[in-house]
This record gives sequence, C-alpha cells and structure tokens, in this order.
Amino acid sequence: MKSSEIRDKFLKFFESKGHTIVRSSPLVPGNDPTMLLTNSGMVQFKDVFTGADTRPYSRATSVQRCVRAGGKHNDLENVGYTARHHTFFEMLGNFSFGDYFKRDAIQYAWELLTKVYMLPADKLTVTVYMEDDEAFDIWEKEIGVPKERIIRIGDNKGGRYASDNFWQMADVGPCGPCTEIFYDHGADIAGGPPGSPDEDGDRFIEIWNLVFMQFYRDEAGVMNKLPKPCVDTGMGMERLAAVLQHVHSNYEIDLFQALIKAAARETGVTDLESKSLRVIADHIRAASFLIVDGVIPSSEGHGYVLRRIIRRALRYGHKLGQTKPFFYKLVADLANEMGTAYPELAEAKERVAQVLKAEEERFGETLENGMKILEAQLAKDAQKLDGATAFTLYDTYGFPLDLTADICRERGIVLDEEGFTAAMEQQKKTARAAGKFKMAAGVEYTGEKSKFVGYDKLAHDSKVIALYADGVQVQELSAGQQGIVVLDTTPFYAESGGQVGDQGLIVGAAGQFEVEDTLKIQADVPGHHGVLKSGVLKVGEQVAANVDEAKRARTIRNHSATHLMHKALREVLGGHVAQKGSLVDAEKTRFDFSHNAPLSAEQIAKVEQLVNREIIDNHETRAQHMSFDDAVKHGAMALFGEKYGDEVRVLDIGTSKELCGGVHVTRTGDIGFFKIIGESGVAAGIRRVEAVTGEGALALVQAMTRRLQEAAAALKTSPDELGSRIAQVQDQVKSLEKELAALKSKMAAGQGDELASQAVDVNGIKVLAATLDGADVAGLRETMDKLKDKLKTAAIVLASVSDGKVSLIAGVTADATAKVKAGELVNFVAQQVGGKGGGRPDMAQAGGTDPSGLPQALAAVAAWVGERA
Ligand code: ALA
Repeated sequence: MKSSEIRDKFLKFFESKGHTIVRSSPLVPGNDPTMLLTNSGMVQFKDVFTGADTRPYSRATSVQRCVRAGGKHNDLENVGYTARHHTFFEMLGNFSFGDYFKRDAIQYAWELLTKVYMLPADKLTVTVYMEDDEAFDIWEKEIGVPKERIIRIGDNKGGRYASDNFWQMADVGPCGPCTEIFYDHGADIAGGPPGSPDEDGDRFIEIWNLVFMQFYRDEAGVMNKLPKPCVDTGMGMERLAAVLQHVHSNYEIDLFQALIKAAARETGVTDLESKSLRVIADHIRAASFLIVDGVIPSSEGHGYVLRRIIRRALRYGHKLGQTKPFFYKLVADLANEMGTAYPELAEAKERVAQVLKAEEERFGETLENGMKILEAQLAKDAQKLDGATAFTLYDTYGFPLDLTADICRERGIVLDEEGFTAAMEQQKKTARAAGKFKMAAGVEYTGEKSKFVGYDKLAHDSKVIALYADGVQVQELSAGQQGIVVLDTTPFYAESGGQVGDQGLIVGAAGQFEVEDTLKIQADVPGHHGVLKSGVLKVGEQVAANVDEAKRARTIRNHSATHLMHKALREVLGGHVAQKGSLVDAEKTRFDFSHNAPLSAEQIAKVEQLVNREIIDNHETRAQHMSFDDAVKHGAMALFGEKYGDEVRVLDIGTSKELCGGVHVTRTGDIGFFKIIGESGVAAGIRRVEAVTGEGALALVQAMTRRLQEAAAALKTSPDELGSRIAQVQDQVKSLEKELAALKSKMAAGQGDELASQAVDVNGIKVLAATLDGADVAGLRETMDKLKDKLKTAAIVLASVSDGKVSLIAGVTADATAKVKAGELVNFVAQQVGGKGGGRPDMAQAGGTDPSGLPQALAAVAAWVGERA
C-alpha cells in the first residue's frame, strides 16, 4: 500500500465516522509563544481543547506535517542513527472535542488497523497508563486483546516522554494519559515489548498513540481540568507505511526510497543503505517544508532550527565528497513525491530551491575550512574536543553546536560543552565592550550609533554611513538592488515596543531608495530595509530622509490609543490586567493582556466610552526622561519582566502613564475616534482586543451601518425593527417546519395504503419491493411499520432516491424471520446499487450510490424470497 493510499484510507475512514477532514496547518504555529514548531496533529486544535476556541465540528481528522527538531520533542540528533526517527514526519490523527472518549477512540483505532489496513490482531500489543483501568478493560473485554499483551506503563516523570503514557504537547499546554498501539516486527529483530528492559530495540514499534486529553498544564506546572474530556490521536505515517509495505525501516518505504535515490544521484553514491543518504533524505523534507511555511535560515528562532537542519545535511553531503551546492536539487524530487498531497509545496518549489541554494553557497566554503580546523584539532587530541575550538567553529564557520556534537558522537569523542558556553559568554562580553553586535537582521555593524530625530521630525538631511546587500557590507547599491541603509541621523522609527517600523524614501544625489521597513541592526542603529529604485547610492553621500507621513500618522494614532485602552481596561476589568504583547501599525492596534474571561458587550462599550472621553478632552501628550525609580513614583506602568535602562522615557497620554519609546500624537484629540473591532482568546488567561482609530474607525462604523441597512432591506424592514423582524421570521420557519413534517408523514401513509395492494404472495409471505418518492429515512421507516401491520406475514423492501444516493430499508414480520432475514434482504438489494448493508432479522437499513440498478434489484426481490420461503 503506497503512502498516498495510506493517507486517503485514514481520512476516509474517519470521515465515515462523522469526522470533518481538516487540512494540515503550517509548521509555524500562529500566535503561540509556548510552541516553536508544530510537533503533532493536535497543535492546530490546542485552543479548541482548552475551550478558548470553537469549531463548527466536534470530530476532526487530519494528516499533519510535523517537525521535531527543537523544543520539547527533538529528534534531530537521532536521525540517521535509528530506523524510525525523523525531523519531519506526517501524523495521521483523529480528534474529539468533548464528543466521544476512550471507548470509541479505541474501537475506531482497532477497526481501522485490523479491518481496513488488515493488520493481524496478534501482531499488536498495547499499553495503557498505569492507573487507567477503564482503558485496560476496554482493550481486554471489548476488543479482546489478551491480558498479557496489555501493558501498564507509568508516567515516568522526568524520564523519557516517548514511553511514559502521559502525553503533553510542551511544558505548557493540553495533556493527558494515553494508550499506545505497538506493532511486533517479528522475533528475528532484537528488542522487547514496551516496558521491558530492551524495549528500545526495533522489534516492537509504537505506531499509534491515543491521548485522552483531560488537563491543561500551566506555567506553574498546575494541572487544570479541560472543560470537557477530549481525544487526540497520532499515528506516524512513515511507521505505518513500513508495516504495511513489509519493510523494517521507515527509510525503506516508497516515499523515502525515491528521495534516497535522488540523493544518491546527486552525490554519486551507490550504496543505498548509506546513513548519510538517509540523513539527507530526511533533512530535505524538514528544510523544504519549513521554507514553504515561511521560515528562512537565520541566527535565531525558527530560522536557526532550519539553518541547523540544512547545515547538518550539507555536512553529510560533504562527507560524501560534495563541495558544490547539491542539496537544493532534491527539492524537485520531493515535490514529485509529496506535491500532490501538499499543493503548497508544489507551488513554492522554485522559491524553496533558491533559499536552499543561497544557504548552501553561504556555508559551502566555510564548511570546508571548518572541517580542516576540526580535523587538525582532533589529530592533536583524539579523546576530547575542547570548548574553544567548538566555539571557533560556531562563531567563525557557522557550525551549529549540535553539528559539532554530531561529528564527535560519530567518532566517539567527548565534546566539552561547558567550555563552549564559557567561550560564548566571554565573547559576548568582549563584543559588548567593543560595541560589536550580531542582531536578528544578521548583519554586523561596528560604526557610530545613529541619532533618532523622528519624535518631532518626519524629514531630515542625513548622511549614509553604511550600506548592506545580501547581508554583507558594501560601498554602494545599484538600481534594483535590495539592501539596508544606515544613516548618521534619521527620522525613521525602527520597530520596537509593538510599533512597526516607518516606511518612506531616502533620496540621494543620484538615487532613490524606497524604505519598506525600518528594523534595528542593534540598539540605537536603525537599518532602513528596502530597494534602490533608481540610480546609485553610496556610503558617505548626503541624502534627504523622508518618512511616509500618512502611514506614520495613522500608526501613532493607533499607538496612543493603545495606551488609553490599556488604562481603560484596567479600570473596567481590574488591576490584574497587564500587557502581554502588542502590535501597532497603520491599520489597527492589537493588544494582548492577562484576563481570564471573554469581555462582555457592556465591558467593551465601557472601554470605548472611557477612551473616547479622553480623546474629546484633548489632553496634551507629555514625554519625559527620568530614572526608573522616579518613573515608578510618577505612577507609570512598567511591563513586568522587561529590562529597562537606567533612564527611561515616560509617556503621559490623557490620564495614562506608561514607559514607552514609541512615537505618539501631540494631543489626544488627534486620535479622532476609537472603536473596538473584536475580542478573542489567544492562550489560557490571555485575551486579545483589536481596535481602530481615526479614518479606520470611521470606515468600520460606515461598513457596519451599510451591512445593517442591507440586512434590514433584505427582510423588508428598518434597522430599528430588525430584531423583532428576525424573531418573527424564525417563528414562521418553525411553524412551517412543523406543517411540513405533518404533511410528509401523511403523504408517506397515503403511499403506504396504495402500496399494500401491490404486494404479491410468495409461498404464504406477502412480498413487496417498491420506491417511495420523496421520502426520507424517517418516512421510509414509518411507512414500513404501517405496511407490516397491514400485510401481516410479509417481507418488504422500500427505497428512495435523492441526490444520486439510494436509501434502502428492509422489514420482515416476526413470523417470517425464520425463513427470510431483513439484513440479508437489504444487502441483496444494496449490492446491486453499489452499496452494502445489514442489520437485525426484522429491520435493516442500507445505502447505495448507483440508482440505475434499483428497478432491476427491486424486481428480483420476489424471486429471492421464493428461494427461501
Ligand atoms: N499528540 C499525540 C502524539 O503526538 C497523539 O503522540
């Protein structure tokens, strides 16, 4: 069974059990500070489990792309060493949000494995959480797994998570006890059952984990009960494929074989068992999908995880003799294998290859040189690699520490990690002293600091003091080139404190640079990111720096309103409200804060009133510099956990007082008008409010009014009367529904009378097989009951067709069931209309998808009964 079929069968099976098929979410979870990368199928449903979010369904199923190469679940260093660890893998999952629980979860899993994937039951072993007698009993008494193949496992606190039968997404998040299903690859492979001393062998492989989500573990480690018990399951697609394709290692499945062959082609290696090829085949999947999902290699966060994966792959390529870029060429092969299941990959493949190629070029040379340094050091000491060398490799040659660790592990050498950390600390100190930093933008800057004049100026004559293209310092930029400009003095605000960076134009003697964003290169050095539209721009030249005034004006209105809103929220909700994050741009302000319940409509209205009151009062804004202690005395709100310098900037806007480095309106009246757009939950105990100001707020109110008028017009009433008009329409619909139901049942009964006369006698049994036009299943049942009463000894089949689907029901009166079984009868007909069915001897139901076979099937019923009566 090919991988694509395995995915399809999984989704279809759960769809047939009432689950909604949900697409894989990206690898970078949206808005979740507790989670770096999507590590399992449940991540996109996290808030649904906690009750913070709702969906239109209570059962879902998905094939989720996952990466485990950082954070709580990290398999990076195992890849290549085992038959089943991956950085990237696909997780097949089914989820219940307060719907079914243990019994159904277990029954579905068993049915799918043994009836659809046809795994022999005696090859399966299961584990349950130590105290979970309920799950144990379901496995033993209801499924029939012999006691000796149901193993109780503890939660092994502080130990390895994989076999502890208590699953949690991350240190903070939903969690619960689980039951796991293992496949026995056979006695010829080393290893023991789960929980035994040699459970780590490759013989018993966990294929499916069913988690009974019941708790939310918070920052303090406290287990809070979820609103409703839920189910979260995950089955590694690759492991299942290995079982179904009768191979032992995941790397032998169809999908991996294609990638391994491609890697062999690019590296000229002929041994397809080579560990290096496996690593490369694994890493191309993780790297490509991370790039598809918007990550680019960098020195921190997601970008750093990606960089580590790519560089590890390149190092294995290097071992195979690759000194030129090769890795990016595998993207096309990957897209061939997985582009159908993941169209986003097929779409992005060119871009992915470009990003990989650029990173390969960047790392190529230094890899060669770094390996020489490393070899030289290891020639001196074959037991241990010192921290200083590991740090040089990291700092100068871009070897992530785990890459160096990987090389050491391969050769059985100890790596001095403490020495590495010490060297790192030392370098940071020296760098601070020399004013040399490496920041998120990834460029190195050692020059003068820039002077920011943007609090009261939007234009300034400045001098270009540094230029960058592709991350390296250059003397000039030419037309069309992307780059970063550093100015001696600038009116452009660099993104910080939630306020986005300014946009605008930098005009030189012979060139125009369009600033798309302003981001700090280091503290007090804004980098103007953008593109040179025309001409040239040179270091040392005089330029006119002009901020986009309209955008800036809208942004600062939103920013000042955020301070007023923060104050108003504390007034309305209480002093526990503290800022947890914010983003202010020209469109709106987004403000996250601690509070544990949704805001009521009244509370929202109150906050709007308070903020607009301050706007009407038209206070003058005041910005003062003072010591942190004085600021606290002054009553300014400081963000807990934030680091402030010795001197801070205190903003008094209306009656609000906050520490802030951002740009603000001169008077509160400049904000114009403030309106909240919406309120939602972002994490446990954290709410988010979004709001607009000025023209944005006006546009919002106008759009709302227009929609209200359109809705009223559609119901032929006025906006004022809309509520009562809707209630009236709802009443009407209800009474029409009642009337319709009564009519339907009357009609069905009428048809029943007429039909009874069509029954034929077959050896003492009245046989009737007919189509009931327009009847639903309930109608069919009702008519069936009536016909049975009327005909006494009878075998009846009723059918109806709607939307190309056939509904069937068969009934046999009790005195005839000895000869004729309704289940068999309905199945006889169903088979001829593309379906299958069964049921009790006196009543059974089925469906079909091919109405064309129906007349013939019904005509054959009398003869079929004749053979039995
Ligand atoms: N979320 C569970 C896991 O990843 C199913 O194993």
